[in-house]
Amino acid sequence: MTKLTIVAFDGTRFDLDADEGSTVMENAVRNSVPGIEAECGGACACATCHVYVDEAWVERVGPPAPMEEDMLDFAFDVRPSSRLSCQIKLSAALDGLTVHVPERQA
Ligand code: FES
Repeated sequence: MTKLTIVAFDGTRFDLDADEGSTVMENAVRNSVPGIEAECGGACACATCHVYVDEAWVERVGPPAPMEEDMLDFAFDVRPSSRLSCQIKLSAALDGLTVHVPERQA
């Protein structure tokens, strides 16, 4: 289990216990976090699972892969900390990760 915190746009914090190997998106959907639509079900084909990685975690999470970067072009208000949450796989190295949900999806 790894700790994962997802902060909804209205500031509501979701402090979750996540399975290693699961994605941030899967945990968001399972816990009904508002603002994560994930229309393509995690195939990196919709950009409606966009999140901002908390500043303290940006380096450890790393940059998006080229395919993800292409999809991010379709997301709303993309920032340097933007990632698609279906492409962030949880591991012990990311124990305690915090991400923030944007105002809206594309
Ligand atoms: S769920 Fe569609 S890109 Fe992440």
